[in-house]
Amino acid sequence: MGTQYVCLISGNDEKGDGSESKPFKTALKAIEVLQGSSEIKIRKELDSPFDDIAKAQLKKVKKLYEEKLKKLQKLSQNSEKNLQEEKKKEEEDLKRLENAKSIVLVQDSSLPKAKNCHTYDAITLTLESTVKVYGVINELPEGKSAPDGHELLVDYWEIIGKAPGGDEAITNKVTDDAVNKEQLYDQRHLVLRGETVSNVLKVRSITVKAFRDFFSERHITEVTPPLMVQTSVEGGSTLFAFDYYGDTAYLTQSSQLYLETCLPALGDVFCITESFRAEKSSTRRHLSEFTHCEAEFSFIDFNDLLNFMEDMVVSVVEKVFADPEGKKLMSVLHPEFVLPKKPFKRMDYGDAIKWLKENNVTKDDGSFYEFGEDIPEAPERKMTDTIGVPILLCRFPAEIKSFYMKKDKKDQRLTESVDLLMPNVGEIVGGSMRISDLSELMAGYKREGIEPSPYYWFTDQRKYGTAVSGGFGLGVERFLAWLMNRYTVKDVCLYPRFIKR
Ligand code: 4AD
Ligand code: MG
Repeated sequence: MGTQYVCLISGNDEKGDGSESKPFKTALKAIEVLQGSSEIKIRKELDSPFDDIAKAQLKKVKKLYEEKLKKLQKLSQNSEKNLQEEKKKEEEDLKRLENAKSIVLVQDSSLPKAKNCHTYDAITLTLESTVKVYGVINELPEGKSAPDGHELLVDYWEIIGKAPGGDEAITNKVTDDAVNKEQLYDQRHLVLRGETVSNVLKVRSITVKAFRDFFSERHITEVTPPLMVQTSVEGGSTLFAFDYYGDTAYLTQSSQLYLETCLPALGDVFCITESFRAEKSSTRRHLSEFTHCEAEFSFIDFNDLLNFMEDMVVSVVEKVFADPEGKKLMSVLHPEFVLPKKPFKRMDYGDAIKWLKENNVTKDDGSFYEFGEDIPEAPERKMTDTIGVPILLCRFPAEIKSFYMKKDKKDQRLTESVDLLMPNVGEIVGGSMRISDLSELMAGYKREGIEPSPYYWFTDQRKYGTAVSGGFGLGVERFLAWLMNRYTVKDVCLYPRFIKR
């Protein structure tokens, strides 16, 4: 072997701690190639002459090289204890590895293009490593297929970061079955790299943008309300409390009340931000932290609100499909998806109670749901899945709804309220017309046992120039679970938060 030169731009172990800086790695590679020989020359710039390597550096890289060599020898010793076949394979691998040491790829544009890739790095390359490749991107020749219709002709590559590979490779460690769901959540930072999860998160991004575009086209102003609050919106049982400089504060359940305060100042408003609920059990559709898309409008009636909700759902889905990447990803994630038709089926709560009776959907004890009772998740799902189309379920009794909901003019037992129910998921939106009369609001606080004083700023909306208004909140994860046909809302979160996690 003649003298070999390696182009080393700066020959120092920069940190001086033996850690593998880029030039240091290059020196290490060089000594591996020369198998311990000291004939390494370096140059500081590409066009400067080669010089001898510094003694201290040579010593360090030699030491590292010897350690690496020892590891390899240990490997081969262990293999002797193994089965005959394994031993043979390992010896062959080792031989290839040794041979590979005589080959080094150095990027030098003046040389002809490299053809041989049996280098040490190539042979020891592991799954999930990061490599840098140099080459030319071409359109695919006729008749071939590849993602994006392009291929990369590589003429040089190098390792950026090696992963453990083998049994340690995350692809071999996690499999997508129910048994190790918990492990999948523990390893979510690596599971994210999988094709399905990353596709789901891309569609999530496209969808959130579609919501913003939809509101923007209608000149509805986005606001960013605070999430640390002192009041509940949807009852005290699901509030997360925390210590706020010695006082008790909560994580918001909904930004609705703050959005209502914006109406006289900014006109119609929306927000897409987090809401929190201390949900005491883990279900397919409940999270402790979810992304809430909420909107409030003045000078609308109940029918306008229902129309807006169905317009939004259809328009957002259309936007996702109008995005080339969205369309492509949806064809992989949910190929049977059918765009729902407007107008959506509209059904009153009272008729849902009748439907449950007629279809023999009962409580666990065999009795029927009666007018005035909340319809829980299971019967609601049963009805929605059986009917098989989106349902705008309207006019719930005041007793089972929140303090702020406006009463139905025709039936004072009821409210102008709505839940949008989707097949396979159930409720994805909750909304209502808001009480615009001060005394009705005070009665609402009283009915729900709410002490009004912390709500003085909300009460002021009815005092200082009240107006007819309404709005809704859509659970983004539930919308996405419906859109992409995911089993649970947890599957569409970056890092889902739910009870015990
Ligand atoms: O029906 P909800 O509780 O209504 C409100 O919070 C109103 N203040 C909204 C408004 O009018 N501005 O919640 C609205 C939606 C639900 O339909 C559901 O999609 C979602 O928020 N949601 C949850 N999503 C995931 N996990 C949870 N724990 C959720 N709780 C509500
Ligand atoms: Mg609701």
